[in-house]
Amino acid sequence: MSTHPRLSPEELRSYRWFGPNDLRSFGHRSRARQMGLGPEDWKGKPIIAILNTWSEINPCHLHFKVLAENVKKGVLQAGGMPIEIPVISLSENFMKPTTMLYRNLLAMETEEVLRCHPVDGAVLLGACDKTTPALIMGALSAALPFIFVPGGPMQKGQWRDQTLGSGSDAWKYWAEKRAGNLTEEEWCEIEEGIARSHGHCMTMGTASTLTAITETLGLTLTGASSIPASDARHWRMAASSGRQIVENVWNNLNPCKFLNLDAFHNAIVTEMAVGGSTNAIVHLIAMAGRAGLKLPLKDFDVISRKTPRLANLRPAGEFLMEDFYFAGGLPALLNQLRDLLHGECLTVNGKTLGENISDAKIHNTNVIRTRDNALSEEGGTAVLHGNLCPNGAVIKHSAMESRFQKHTGPAIVFKDYDDLAARLDDPDLPVTADSILVLQKAGPVGGPGMPEWGMMPLPKKLLEAGVRDMIRLSDSRMSGTSYGACILHVAPESAVGGPIAFVRDGDLISLDIAMRTLTLEITDDEMAKRRSEWKAEARKIDRGYLHLYLNEVTQADEGCDLRFLHYTGTPTPEPSIH
Ligand code: FES
Repeated sequence: MSTHPRLSPEELRSYRWFGPNDLRSFGHRSRARQMGLGPEDWKGKPIIAILNTWSEINPCHLHFKVLAENVKKGVLQAGGMPIEIPVISLSENFMKPTTMLYRNLLAMETEEVLRCHPVDGAVLLGACDKTTPALIMGALSAALPFIFVPGGPMQKGQWRDQTLGSGSDAWKYWAEKRAGNLTEEEWCEIEEGIARSHGHCMTMGTASTLTAITETLGLTLTGASSIPASDARHWRMAASSGRQIVENVWNNLNPCKFLNLDAFHNAIVTEMAVGGSTNAIVHLIAMAGRAGLKLPLKDFDVISRKTPRLANLRPAGEFLMEDFYFAGGLPALLNQLRDLLHGECLTVNGKTLGENISDAKIHNTNVIRTRDNALSEEGGTAVLHGNLCPNGAVIKHSAMESRFQKHTGPAIVFKDYDDLAARLDDPDLPVTADSILVLQKAGPVGGPGMPEWGMMPLPKKLLEAGVRDMIRLSDSRMSGTSYGACILHVAPESAVGGPIAFVRDGDLISLDIAMRTLTLEITDDEMAKRRSEWKAEARKIDRGYLHLYLNEVTQADEGCDLRFLHYTGTPTPEPSIH
């Protein structure tokens, strides 16, 4: 249990706004009364901000108004005062070019909203991909006690007698349609059945991976990340989180004090054991950065090599999140991995991770494998190095055809996504199943925002010939629901003069998963010559948030945070109340 000293009412942060007998506090109290509140709402009570990422254009968060009401109920039950505050909703499907461009904006908003208001703690409501890391990054920088309430995965998709998984089956059936194996009518039926309820993607995509690692970090209540969004237990978890945050404020149980490198290593174990999204790597590095911790890419590879893959979930396996929940959920999976975890890490319920998972049992060993029957002895993701990616690249080798474990092929280079879209299906494109598609200008600066373009579609003529996987290489990311031999996050990116910018059609590229190497087969002299000839492109848009972002964003191996938001070691001063 936590041994933090319990605060007195006068030590609450909100007391500075409401407690003093002066003109400024008079203003705060009189305006609170304008909202129908009185001393019984604020006096001696922790004020809890509920940061709500609800929006009418975010289907994954459609239920967040009711979710917030359940958190409020819990806060009130525990003697706190809830205040719901809206923040930007990053809707993965609708925001262009990518929500990743705006992750840091939500993180900034979260930090500033918490810092400037009279709140003692926060409950963060997130789920859809980037909302989770953004809220946590901001809350860590604001340094207040907080709990994360994950929005929960949606129900399984269904088409006729086929179960459909978010994203994964869209990619799969789109390839079949392009290959001429699916009618327009069947494609429309899939469109109607793939997203059947509120909640986030129900494959082990980015959303499920991020909420699972958030739970492993100790930032949610135990088991919270696996509960389906439409299950009544989800509402009860939200209310429990509301009760817990009030207790945590009094006990000064603050994640920014208990998150350490061991907790982040636990999170990487989870990512590898669930065969999770490659996107989690960038987000974990960024979140750790806000806690003042460095997570080098090599840590991911070291942990991947010793972590068995136990979750049999799409896109790398068979089942979906609802199956995972009823099989025992994340606690049951983690309980299988106790020897690889730092069980002593503290969590938001005041207990350690080890205490939280010690009784968790697997109820379906097809969905959550036991250690003696792992899907693979290693985790799902490999970190690559070589002259083509001096600062690293990643590949989810668990979700690709095994013939690419060691492969050399000629490059077909696309200078940006428009070029790819224009030429990919050209019958004269000199592409074979052994070629390597290379996409440039798709990184953090080039995209901008490092869009999920890395799972490039296969050329139509190869699909028609029965090919379903080939090596694709880019400085972008791919959807966590996607699969295939996609080499991603190549750093430095092409737009800042990384070696991927120098690849030319026909160059041979070699991938060796066992050796973790990615090599452009040209001489050092040739590489130097091409580098000396390279020129950066002028920006087409350079205003507003984009100006800030392009000037300050870091590369994939550094987490793509904005440089000035990195932890400096000096806490940001509390705002003046005058
Ligand atoms: Fe929101 Fe996938 S679109 S989680």
